[in-house]
Amino acid sequence: MATQKSKVVVTRDLGPDVLGKLREDPSVDLFVWPPDCGCDRNWLLEEAEGAVGLVVTLTDKVDEELLTRAGANLKVVSTMSVGYEHVDLAGLAKRGVRLGYTPDVLNGAVADLSIMLALMAGRNGGNALAHVRNGEWPNISWSPFGWCGPQLSGTVGGPKKTVGFLGFGRIAQVTLNRLVGFEITRCIYTTRIGSPPKKDLEDSLTEKHRRVNPGFEGVRQVDLKTLARESDVLFILAPGGAETRHIVNEELLREMKRTSVLVNTSRGSLVDSDALAKALREGWIWGAGLDVVEGEPDVTADHPLVKQPSCVIVPHIGSATFATRTDMANTAVANVLAVLSNKPMVSEKRV
Ligand code: DGY
Repeated sequence: MATQKSKVVVTRDLGPDVLGKLREDPSVDLFVWPPDCGCDRNWLLEEAEGAVGLVVTLTDKVDEELLTRAGANLKVVSTMSVGYEHVDLAGLAKRGVRLGYTPDVLNGAVADLSIMLALMAGRNGGNALAHVRNGEWPNISWSPFGWCGPQLSGTVGGPKKTVGFLGFGRIAQVTLNRLVGFEITRCIYTTRIGSPPKKDLEDSLTEKHRRVNPGFEGVRQVDLKTLARESDVLFILAPGGAETRHIVNEELLREMKRTSVLVNTSRGSLVDSDALAKALREGWIWGAGLDVVEGEPDVTADHPLVKQPSCVIVPHIGSATFATRTDMANTAVANVLAVLSNKPMVSEKRV
């Protein structure tokens, strides 16, 4: 007796190696959005009908409309991302649909990019690159304090360096690992409002990092205002959504040091773009490095942040390394296959 195949819809071409795992599975009837560009919404709505699994990316909205169109067969939505703001969790929960996602595999890549942006923003990287590209180098000769900016790393006998994290999950901790090599002095962080300090974690990280950098004073939870006031570099690494929307606003930015740098590699919605543009324009902070901007990808040359020379912006490339994107795609596919074969997912987000 022929077994009934499960329809799986994938919204991007994940390459022959990764998709091969679905293609070669005899229980799967595979539908892939063919062009290498964002999946057409109408195509997805049509193809989703009767699907058992949907493999999506953060540009595909998994909302009431899509879930209704998919219908009662749908068992799993698997997103090739650690973030899941594009997924209606309540809609999944009420239908008993499970959610797969891809945490951990991208920690290193996002941490690397966070540091790249901190360095670029602190050392006038965006402006300096534009200067050379525009052919302006011959017009300005080297000068003792030309192009100077704040130094990320500690200097012998120099001021103490404090790095701050708004959100202290896995990516933040991997970023801190890398920063310890920059001889920073201390780390402060805030997590969800009202959540108690992660005392054991603070102690173990302090001990671990002191072994590498004896001058490291430690890791400590602080309130949001203290985080803004004391951070030389403030990394935003918290989830998006209603709870954190515009948590970085005018009030918070006004608390920061004039020499400090803001880095956002989580979600654009955490930062009020107009307030940040004003802060950069009026010099309340030194610079900003952004991988994400609210309203992306509609961030054009006339966007107030793009117009700020001290703002370095890249188009959401935090996880964009060959190794990491391959791991993310493999995890997303493995999550769907696990549900189809009644096995535990590699990474499941409880809804
Ligand atoms: C994610 O996975 O949520 C990241 O933002 C992708 O780079």
